[in-house]
Amino acid sequence: MRIVLVGPPGAGKGTQATRLAETLHIPHISTGDLFRANISQQTELGKLAKSYMDAGNLVPDEVTIAMAKDRMGQPDAEGGFLLDGFPRNVSQAEALDELLESEDMKLDAVLDLEAPEDEVVKRIAGRRVCRNNSAHVFHVTYTPPKKEDVCDVCGGELYQRDDDSEGTVRKRLEVYHTQTEPIIDYYKSQGLVVTIAATGPVDEVTGRALEALKRDK
Ligand code: AP5
Ligand code: ZN
Repeated sequence: MRIVLVGPPGAGKGTQATRLAETLHIPHISTGDLFRANISQQTELGKLAKSYMDAGNLVPDEVTIAMAKDRMGQPDAEGGFLLDGFPRNVSQAEALDELLESEDMKLDAVLDLEAPEDEVVKRIAGRRVCRNNSAHVFHVTYTPPKKEDVCDVCGGELYQRDDDSEGTVRKRLEVYHTQTEPIIDYYKSQGLVVTIAATGPVDEVTGRALEALKRDK
């Protein structure tokens, strides 16, 4: 399957993508995680991306599309993928369509995770991520680690993302509404959008997502 996940910052895209990718046996491709890996390796791309991410803005399309294409072209993505955080505006969606068309492929679904703004703000404020593995994500209240600031899975250090400060989160939400939400209409016109409520326990949201994707097939 080829799936795009969309939803505001903090909706639980990363959390759900890890689980869905495992169940559906497809790789989880997160442009945010790819940028953060570049930042920690101090690459040129990482240095460029950091300035945009810290301000809550989108990284320019040219570099983002090139990075996403490169990742989608790797062997593990041949049979399908779950895109998390890409595309994030209409020109990225058009670039993805062109790429898929040139390979004679198409998307199966666009899974839209809906969550109210006050809830996503609370989720982001309490999020802690593992330095060793970006799939190890906790929340200080909702899914607390057993030991403060230590990852339950691998013992790595948990940290708060630089772009999770209150001011940057407000900017990211504004960017989501103005630049990313229009892709929902873009994909609705292709009949691909499946919307689910992303509230309630993590397991319930995963169940809802799998049901919705099955129905959509
Ligand atoms: P990115 O990393 O994609 O961030 P985002 O879209 O803002 O989304 P988040 O990672 O903040 O949230 P999430 O929905 O994954 O939530 P999570 O599962 O962690 O992008 C970051 C930046 O990179 C962008 O601002 C931009 O600068 C750049 N970028 C990335 N892609 C780009 C692109 N294509 N083009 C240009 N620039 C790009 O969950 C949040 C918290 O809630 C966690 O603590 C979790 O434990 C908790 N939680 C999750 N689900 C539940 C639940 N059901 N109940 C209770 N708590 C829950
Ligand atoms: Zn860990």
